[in-house]
Amino acid sequence: MFMKWKTMTSTASALSASASRAGRAPLPRERLQHFPRLTGEHPTSWTFPDYLDNPNSRWLQCLKEMYSMPITFPASLAPEAGLLLHAFIRNFRPRVVVEVGSFLSVSTHWIASALQANGDGGVVHCFDDFGPIHKGPWRDAEMLSGRLDWVKDRLSRAGLLDLVRFHPGDSSTNIRASQNELARAGRVQFAYIDGDHTVPGVTADFQAVEPILDTGGYIMLHDTFPEQCGDHLGPRHVLDHINSLGKGLYESCELYSSPLNYGLALLRRIG
Ligand SMILES: C[S@@+](CC[C@H](N)C(=O)[O-])C[C@H]1O[C@@H](n2cnc3c(N)ncnc32)[C@H](O)[C@@H]1O
Repeated sequence: MFMKWKTMTSTASALSASASRAGRAPLPRERLQHFPRLTGEHPTSWTFPDYLDNPNSRWLQCLKEMYSMPITFPASLAPEAGLLLHAFIRNFRPRVVVEVGSFLSVSTHWIASALQANGDGGVVHCFDDFGPIHKGPWRDAEMLSGRLDWVKDRLSRAGLLDLVRFHPGDSSTNIRASQNELARAGRVQFAYIDGDHTVPGVTADFQAVEPILDTGGYIMLHDTFPEQCGDHLGPRHVLDHINSLGKGLYESCELYSSPLNYGLALLRRIG
């Protein structure tokens, strides 16, 4: 995994300016020598890695089943990226997590299973409209009703339902309405944003979470490489304008993600 750090502090800006004067400046990411792109045939389904196929783990068996369903492709988080998300939460140990965009709860499974393993009372708050899923690019399957009940049933079978709180409806509206509740619960240490991918949509979600995000806390954005994920321009925009859109100060790190490389970004609030 390759990472590129951008620290937008005034010190960093000064360093960058002096590096630039010295003839060194960051390359645009498309000029990096290693920037993985899709080559050859676009996959049409997920491959669940053998090393994750643990018959003794309820939640991994649930994920295996979900990844085999045509409706989870390609909008769910890839298994490799899900594993990264799970490992991050195991290490960072947030207590209050916000997930924007649960879809069929694949990413919710990765997050909640890590909170369960942490064993310190962490909870994930899911903000999604839980509306109908229609056919789309790379997806012939649809689910026109009953998504929230379907998701609850899946999480229950995985043994994770008690770690999850649901906030059905428009995400930024509901996050704003839940700010007091989340603040009372201990504020937010980690937010995973993968909902409305338009520029106004991601901006509104980010700005709704920000007032209750701890300093030292993280936001992860999915779909930050528009080269790979089409017209999803919002995450890239927020990433590129994070320190003017936000009231806090952030550093960011871009992560490549296999196999589709839709891209992830990790933002840490440092002021
Ligand atoms: C790409 S999917 C999320 C995938 C999920 N994170 C996963 O990895 O399994 C985006 C989700 O955001 C939801 N969504 C889009 N716009 C929304 C909005 N304004 N408010 C609430 N949910 C929204 C969609 O219904 C969909 O469930």
